[in-house]
Amino acid sequence: MKKYMTIQDTIGATPLVSLQRIPGDVGQKRGNVILAKLEGNNPAGSVKDRAASAMIRHAEERGEIKPGDTLIEATSGNTGIALAMTAAIRGYKMVLIMPDNLSVERRASMTAYGAELILTPASQGGMEYARDLAASMQAEGKGKVLDQFANEDNVRAHIETTGPELWQQTDGQITHFVSAMGTTGTIMGVGSYLRSRNENIQIVGAQPAEGSQIPGIRKWPEAYQPRIYQPSKVDSFELIAQADAEQMARRLAAEEGIFGGISSAGALIAALRVAARVENATIVFIVCDRGDRYLSTGVFN
Ligand SMILES: Cc1ncc(COP(=O)(O)O)c(C=O)c1O
Repeated sequence: MKKYMTIQDTIGATPLVSLQRIPGDVGQKRGNVILAKLEGNNPAGSVKDRAASAMIRHAEERGEIKPGDTLIEATSGNTGIALAMTAAIRGYKMVLIMPDNLSVERRASMTAYGAELILTPASQGGMEYARDLAASMQAEGKGKVLDQFANEDNVRAHIETTGPELWQQTDGQITHFVSAMGTTGTIMGVGSYLRSRNENIQIVGAQPAEGSQIPGIRKWPEAYQPRIYQPSKVDSFELIAQADAEQMARRLAAEEGIFGGISSAGALIAALRVAARVENATIVFIVCDRGDRYLSTGVFN
C-alpha cells in the first residue's frame, strides 16, 4: 500500500525566500542578500513545531514518557500550540500554563488541539510565575514537564533540521544567521550546526530593548536565563524597540507579502543593521510565526 505522510511529517522543510524591497541600499548595492526562513509554514504555525516534536519524540525514545501520560508546560504561546498539536498527534494529555495577558488567538488554538489551559496572573510575574507553577505541579506528581528552557532536545531539533536545511538551501553560502531569542533553542541549535560547517558564520541574536514587550522573546534576568543558553555561542546582540518591531511587521506584510509576527520583524531589523555593516553577505533571519496570531492585539491596524 502507498505510504502517505502524516501531519507530523509536514513539520520542517520550510521555504527560504529573498526580500525584494525592504533592504533598499543595504541590500543589492552592497552585494548583500537577505533571506527569510518561513517557519510560519509549519503545520501548527511556528518554529516551535520542530522543538515540540523533537522534545516529545526523543523523550519517548528514551522511555521517559509514553502515550496516555500527562505533559505540563509553561509557555508564552507558540510552544504551547506546537505541543498541543504534537500531544494530539501522539496521544498525550497536555496541560499548558501561560500568563493571562497573551493573545486570545493563542489560547483558542491550544484548546482547539485539546489542551487544558491554566492562566496565571501576568501581574504576579508573567512567565517566571508560570514556570515556577509548572515545576511545582510536576513535584506534586501531576505530570511531566518537558521544560523547553532546559531541554537539549529543543536545541537538537534545530541541529537536526533547521541548521542543515539552511546550509543546503544557501548551498553553504550563508554568512550570517539572525534569530530572535526566547528559550534560545533556535539560535543555539542552528548556530551550533552552522558553525560546525563553517566556523566563520556569524550568529546574531535579537532581544527586546529595555522596557519593550515583544511576544515570545525576552532579555532574561540572570536567575531565569534558559539552561540551554550558552552566551559564547552568540557573536553579537541587537536590542530592538517594540514600536520599531511592530512597524517593521506591518512593512514586512505590506511591502514583501510576508505576514510574520513581531519577533520576526525584530530579527529583520537586526538583519538590516548587520547588512549596513557588511558587504557580499548572505544573511538569513527567522520568521518564527505568522502575523494572524497577533491580529487581536491591533498591531496590524
Ligand atoms: C513569537 C516567537 N518568537 C521567537 C521565539 C524564540 O524562539 P526560541 O525559543 O527558539 O529562542 C519564540 C519562542 O517561543 C516565539 O514564540
